[in-house]
Amino acid sequence: MNLPKHVRLVEVGPRDGLQNEKQPISVDDKVRLVDDLSAAGLGYVEVGSFVSPKWVPQMAGSAEVFARIQRKPGVTYAALTPNLKGFEAALESRVEEVAVFAAASESFSQKNINCSIAESLARFVPVMEAAKAHGVRVRGYVSCVLGCPYEGKVKTEQVAAVARELYAMGCYEVSLGDTIGVGTAGAARRLFEVVGRDVPRERLAGHFHDTYGQALANIYASLLEGIAVFDSSVAGLGGCPYAKGATGNVASEDVVYLLDGLGIDTGIDLDRLIAAGQRICRVLGRASGSRVARARNPECAA
Ligand code: HMG
Ligand code: MG
Repeated sequence: MNLPKHVRLVEVGPRDGLQNEKQPISVDDKVRLVDDLSAAGLGYVEVGSFVSPKWVPQMAGSAEVFARIQRKPGVTYAALTPNLKGFEAALESRVEEVAVFAAASESFSQKNINCSIAESLARFVPVMEAAKAHGVRVRGYVSCVLGCPYEGKVKTEQVAAVARELYAMGCYEVSLGDTIGVGTAGAARRLFEVVGRDVPRERLAGHFHDTYGQALANIYASLLEGIAVFDSSVAGLGGCPYAKGATGNVASEDVVYLLDGLGIDTGIDLDRLIAAGQRICRVLGRASGSRVARARNPECAA
């Protein structure tokens, strides 16, 4: 299998990265992060979520963030919307693209969005209809594709079934989430091999949390399966509030370094990306989760 010449990175740091933070983060800091990321060449930034503030308090200010970011032409600024209420709020914030999120595990679905998998898919139907009417593209997520914090093993066929439904209802791309970062390269290859029978591989993306330190290996394995879109988080920020102990996504800096080394184009300026990560880490008062950032800039390790 030839590796892709170009890979698209979906930067989820401002959403997946920050959603789990307990300390207040100002709108200014969130806006600055989004603007730093677009300036570094990211073509897609997930800015926030229109979810219940009782469930995820950190995302409560998403509308303000959307109101103040500098929208760079050619960059997609997206938000998570679990239901029609969320979609309508996103629309008011002039969000150009939204993401709906389902799970491959019943328990995770209940803990994360308070409904069964089937109920969640039914809730997405009016979101899809409204999105179509307003010309808003919809991305789909499937969580727990390589393991669940509550149920352990998850059947790949179940992942494929949920991915197939999301694709059939009109999601232009389905991102497969290893929410708790337990996957290995072999499991990642098999995942895309199986799900790729139902959803074209060019419509699939990989979303690897790095809890077990396997995310880069999983990305390489996915590249070998023809996957060319990956979600990542600057400085490796984050985790999911409903997956205790899960760490952040694979660090965007580390993915860019991997892809640069493979001669795969991303359009991203690694030095500017490292600087963006360094700034938000200073705000959060912690070292960067990116090995590349720490190696390149000792201040990122402090
Ligand atoms: P619910 O409590 O069942 O909702 O929550 P409800 O419809 O019964 O409404 C209850 C209250 O929430 C009402 O307010 C609604 O108005 C309000 P009240 O009358 O009590 O004042 N409400 C909303 N408020 C704002 N925005 C909305 C909204 N909807 C209802 N959109 C619900 C169901 C889905 C809303 C809730 O469970 C929720 O918000 N969950 C979000 C969880 C979340 O954001 N998780 C993290 C993102 S997923 C993730 O990280 C995984 C991913 O990265 C991939 C991977 O790693 O696997 C994507
Ligand atoms: Mg995630």
